[in-house]
Amino acid sequence: MASKRLATTATAALLSTLGTIGTVACAASSGESAPAAGSTVNSTVNSTLSGPSASPLSSSAADTRARPGAPGIGDSDFPTDGNGGYDVDHYLLKLGYTPSAKHLAGTARIEARATQHLASFNLDLSGFTVSRVTVDGRPARFDRAGSELTVTPAESIPNDATFAVDVTYAGEPKPVRNSSNLGTYGFIPTQDGAFVTGQPNGAKTWFPSNDHPADKARYDFELTVPAGLTALANGELVGEPKTAGGRTTFRWRESHPMASYLATMTLGRFEVLQGKTPGGLKNLAAVDPIFRGSLRRLYDVSGKVTDYWSTLFGPYPFSSTGGVVDDFPAGYALENQTKPMYGGFAPDEDIIAHELAHQWFGDSLSIKRWKDLWLNEGFATYAEWLWSEHEGRATTEQLFRRHYAAAVGDPIWSYAPGRARPEDLFNNSVYTRGGMTLHALRQRIGDQAFFKLLKQWVATHKYGSVTTPEFIAMAEKISGKNLEALFDAWLFTAEKPSTW
Ligand code: ARG
Ligand code: ZN
Repeated sequence: MASKRLATTATAALLSTLGTIGTVACAASSGESAPAAGSTVNSTVNSTLSGPSASPLSSSAADTRARPGAPGIGDSDFPTDGNGGYDVDHYLLKLGYTPSAKHLAGTARIEARATQHLASFNLDLSGFTVSRVTVDGRPARFDRAGSELTVTPAESIPNDATFAVDVTYAGEPKPVRNSSNLGTYGFIPTQDGAFVTGQPNGAKTWFPSNDHPADKARYDFELTVPAGLTALANGELVGEPKTAGGRTTFRWRESHPMASYLATMTLGRFEVLQGKTPGGLKNLAAVDPIFRGSLRRLYDVSGKVTDYWSTLFGPYPFSSTGGVVDDFPAGYALENQTKPMYGGFAPDEDIIAHELAHQWFGDSLSIKRWKDLWLNEGFATYAEWLWSEHEGRATTEQLFRRHYAAAVGDPIWSYAPGRARPEDLFNNSVYTRGGMTLHALRQRIGDQAFFKLLKQWVATHKYGSVTTPEFIAMAEKISGKNLEALFDAWLFTAEKPSTW
């Protein structure tokens, strides 16, 4: 959760809103919800044996028979998160939201590839009334149970085939509240719109998805909101926003793979500053009007931090940087891809440095399973220390020593950060002891190997998925040292490490 030092607001400066808006007819999503019952479709599911190479005589025929995809992606700490049997390539979210009615309605198109012969498959979706589901344009049967939406297409989907699912739905989004120590997350209605932060599994509160970071996809958003409001999503605005009939549609595109928890459609009244970082990268900062005093500072600090990280971690992986401050008092920030969100506070330099480091560690490189969360949070915390040193404040060594001074009985030592616990995912140890682990590693292998490792880690796994053993293997390879004892002591032992 990064440090929660709340910054004092900087001087207010030039404010501009997301421009005047053209007047072209827009296809606002209808706000009507339809009957809930699953549509009835003749299902020929179990009678098909249409795998590409399936022969009724071959001994592997059983393997190619259509089966339901698993209801979870295989993360044993979060057994129903995500789903098996397919891999999403792209989401198109055409959604309309009316804050006064707290009503979200629209269609999600999911383009995916089957990884087995599918009789049916699941999507993750909480709440809403689903009125219609099609697969490749043909109506499909669907069933709801908890957060699982099971789709049974009219015909089974052969292994390796690509398919498109359209889910039409509507209702009042309900964020996840106070589930263990995660606070409130997901689609969170605010006074004038919504604050949308999905970590770890809140995408399901606003669109049907494979809601686990192990399945990354590209996104297009077409977001329709009452005229006068701004809808912000990941990536870049496509064309000018269009207003018709009192509603404005914003199209955004994130063309780089993204984990579902990083997707956002944060909307409301925003003051926006747009331009480029000193290094020439697109930069967009947006703040709720009550935080207008922090807009300029958010914009400037985000720009200089992004440029500095690019020199240390390698080229910025996405098409723009920036940040969004909204008035929902989340008490945390989230590294939403291209647009970190700050929930109810004016961010200081440390937390901006943290969330922007996540663009490399967490967003471009995503974890395959939540227990490796230190690969996100330990790195982003260490980045805060690097920023502090870079700015002439406390050095990484001083900060390491300060935290290492925690008494033997401090809870940071009884929680092994290399194994984040599902019931206490964002424990301080995952952040601070995770960061200390990197400093211990740096002391052991030296600056040259350490910074080479950071760059190579990022370049090798760009836009991909990673695990802790992969990081340890690369550290050993680059340093030529056996680091087993070091990582055991720092990541996997519930005791204060004594050596590094
Ligand atoms: N990854 C975020 C950060 O580092 C913390 C997100 C916390 N999420 C939550 N549901 N409480 O700053
Ligand atoms: Zn973080």
